[in-house]
Amino acid sequence: MTLTSKMSSIEFELEKSYGSKDVNNPKRIFSTAGKILIGLTGCSAIGLSVICLPFVAPAFRKYCLPFVPATNNQIDNIFKLLKRNTNERLLDIGSGDGRIVIAAAKNGLTADGVELNTWLVQYSRLSALYNGVFKQTSFYQKDLWKFDVSPYKYIVIFGVEQMMTDLEKKLLNEANKESQVIACRFPLPNIKPCRIVGEGIDTVWLYDFKKQQSQN
Ligand SMILES: C[S@@+](CC[C@H](N)C(=O)[O-])C[C@H]1O[C@@H](n2cnc3c(N)ncnc32)[C@H](O)[C@@H]1O
Repeated sequence: MTLTSKMSSIEFELEKSYGSKDVNNPKRIFSTAGKILIGLTGCSAIGLSVICLPFVAPAFRKYCLPFVPATNNQIDNIFKLLKRNTNERLLDIGSGDGRIVIAAAKNGLTADGVELNTWLVQYSRLSALYNGVFKQTSFYQKDLWKFDVSPYKYIVIFGVEQMMTDLEKKLLNEANKESQVIACRFPLPNIKPCRIVGEGIDTVWLYDFKKQQSQN
C-alpha cells in the first residue's frame, strides 16, 4: 500500500467515526468549547434569576416591601415591650430571615412568621432548627394581606410607610381584642401608641387593640 492510499484510508475511517475529516481542526474544537461555555453561562444565568426572583418580586407588588432585616437594637426594643415566658402567640408579618420570630421563641413565646420569599422561609426554618426553637416556631409562605392575624396576642410589623394605612385597617378589622401590635421603624398612622421605645430607625411603637376597639 502506498503512503497516499494509507492516508486516504485513515481519513475515511476518521470521517466514518466523527463525521468530518478535520477532527484536529482548532476551529472545530473551539466551537465545541464555545457551545459548552454558552450552555454553562446560560444555566448559571437561569439559576441566578431563580434565586434572585423572590427578592426582586416585592418591587412589582402594590406595596414594595423589600427584605431589610431588623437591627439588634430594634429587636431589643421589641422585647422591652413584650412580656416574656407567657406562652402567648406572636406573629411577625413579613418575617424575612426569621430573626424576630426566633428571638421571640428564645424569650419563651410561641412565634410564627408569614413571608412570601421561599428562600427566606426555608432559611428561617433552618435557623430555628439551629437555634433550638424549631418546635416553638412556624413559618408560612403566604401573602401577609391574606393571612389571618386573629389568633395572635402580639403582632409585629416592620413594614414601609406607604403600606401602614391599609395595614392599620386590616389589623383593626381582624386582630382580636386582646392583641397588641408592635410597629418597627414606621408607626400606624391613626392610632395612638401606648408606648414608644428607642429612637431613629430603631424606634418601636406599641398599640393596645383592646383600647382601640372599645373606642371604635
Ligand atoms: C422589612 S423586611 C422585615 C423582615 C423581618 N420582619 C425583620 O424585621 O427582620 C419585610 C419582609 O416582608 C416580606 N414581604 C414583602 N411583601 C410580602 C407579602 N405580601 N407577604 C408576606 N411577606 C412579604 C419581604 O420579603 C421581607 O422579607
